[in-house]
Amino acid sequence: MAKKPIRVAVTGAAGNIGYALLFRIASGQMFGADQPVILQLLEIPVEGPQKALKGVAMEIDDCAFPLVQGMTLHGDANEAFGDANWCLLVGSKPRGPGMERADLLKDNGKIFVAQGQAIDRHAAADARVAVVGNPCNTNCMIAASQAKRLSPDRFTAMVRLDENRGRAQLAQKAGVLVTEVSDLFIYGNHSPTMFADYTHAKIGGKDAATVIGDKAWLENEYLPAVGKRGAAIIEARGASSAASAAGALVDHVRDLVTPGAIHSVAIPSGGRYGFADGVWAGMPVKSTANGYEVITSYEMDDFAKSKIKITNDELLSERDTVKEMLG
Ligand code: NAD
Ligand code: LMR
Repeated sequence: MAKKPIRVAVTGAAGNIGYALLFRIASGQMFGADQPVILQLLEIPVEGPQKALKGVAMEIDDCAFPLVQGMTLHGDANEAFGDANWCLLVGSKPRGPGMERADLLKDNGKIFVAQGQAIDRHAAADARVAVVGNPCNTNCMIAASQAKRLSPDRFTAMVRLDENRGRAQLAQKAGVLVTEVSDLFIYGNHSPTMFADYTHAKIGGKDAATVIGDKAWLENEYLPAVGKRGAAIIEARGASSAASAAGALVDHVRDLVTPGAIHSVAIPSGGRYGFADGVWAGMPVKSTANGYEVITSYEMDDFAKSKIKITNDELLSERDTVKEMLG
């Protein structure tokens, strides 16, 4: 029997990531090749973005995707999130050269106050949220704090792009296919302080650090390169990552709806791995039929603990910056 369509709200739908994302959702790469979707697309209520959104919708129509069973365009978040099962919060300002993602907090944070409230009022009872707009961990915390009806663990922020970057860079250094790299998880903030935990990663099933055999490279080149990859893309492209960000969001959501998948997600820390309770921190999870279990079995050495402390301190400082925005 055909599956009932799920409602997927996407914000910033006419932006760069939106353009790389929507066609992949519509083709079944996010929710499965047999899962119909209804797309509910939100842009700011301004002529230019609304016109661009119409153009994107025309292109989606022109693809004649069999899985798209409906599509609505919105300038009002209260309408866009109506009965949504998934809310993909992409819409917000990207940073430019020389900025850190936290510099976006004052502008972007307020978007997530309003959208958290709109999700609370209008989304489906089983709604789940994935935040991409930067700084995504803290924006996710803001949105969750405004949505009292939904449990905080329904709100996730994306560190999957960092996991993918970290796997690709380890594979390149070892001269193996990316599929050989496993158990690489991202802890903490989506920022240069993140800890890409190579100490538990594996290459071809063996301890990654032993296979690489270059501790100085891992500590002094690999970690900063993964942490600053977003800035390197901005420097090279003149615009922030879009296709790889959309690809990571497809991975993030697909793995969250795939029971048994193990992957990095920023979630309410619950005090795990030394993070402060109440911040959204990246860590490994195993997806279940309707949510996830946090994997808490990794023992961190003193080096890993010192890295986690730095990224936790940054998350606390971001939380302090936005304390007026928390519901
Ligand atoms: P973009 O400027 O190309 O597009 C953003 C779109 O969002 C614009 O069309 C804008 O009109 C729209 N928008 C702004 N405020 C909105 C609101 N309140 N409601 C609905 N739409 C709104 O930017 P982009 O390249 O698509 O990036 C979007 C965000 O994603 C940025 O904050 C960027 O830093 C972030 N990002 C995060 C990751 C990650 O790994 N977490 C990766 C890449 C980019
Ligand atoms: C990224 O990691 O590519 C994004 O967060 C965009 C940015 O500002 O770096």
